Amino acid sequence: LSSLAGSIDYTDQAALAALYNEVNTLKLRHLEHAGSEEKYIHPILAQRVPGSTKKMEGDHREQERQLEELISHLEGMSSNSTEPGKRIELGLEFYRALNRFISSYLAHIDYEEEHVQPTLWAMFSNEELLGMMKSILSNQSPEQGMWWLSTMLPAMNMTERVALLSPAKNMIPPDVFKSMLDSISKLFTQEEWAVLKSRIGI
Ligand SMILES: [Fe+2]
Repeated sequence: LSSLAGSIDYTDQAALAALYNEVNTLKLRHLEHAGSEEKYIHPILAQRVPGSTKKMEGDHREQERQLEELISHLEGMSSNSTEPGKRIELGLEFYRALNRFISSYLAHIDYEEEHVQPTLWAMFSNEELLGMMKSILSNQSPEQGMWWLSTMLPAMNMTERVALLSPAKNMIPPDVFKSMLDSISKLFTQEEWAVLKSRIGI
């Protein structure tokens, strides 16, 4: 998205509309990220480690505000009354603000991985952690689940992919699991897919 925002012609209305759609999708995915964590993880984590979720929830609100600003900035510059030269200037400011969002989001994910994940592992049993994962998966639509899997799986190593998909096999209905596998098989080479299938036992 950063490359797209850095390379598009901000005087081209169709290109602006495509960028606008991408940023709205990003906002939707961010709401899903924050919503899942705040509904299914934070309340039980805060019961065991008081105050542990405050920073993350503050980050979520700040990032939502940044995304709202990015969207209204694009809406403003798309207006017909904005001159082409001005659009190029505003486009550069959009690009910089988008990168500020991305850097804040990456710092947030790093905090979750470095501090929150080890706390969860230390304070909850495997069954409790699987229960949280089940709550998240069972409250996602198939389309939402596929989007997250398509984003996460290619960035994981094989051990992480197996750890994510093995429990899912027993958590979602067999026909949904089968259609999910058909879709995710396209993300891998034949060799990777054969290894993954054999390691999750399908
Ligand atoms: Fe988060």
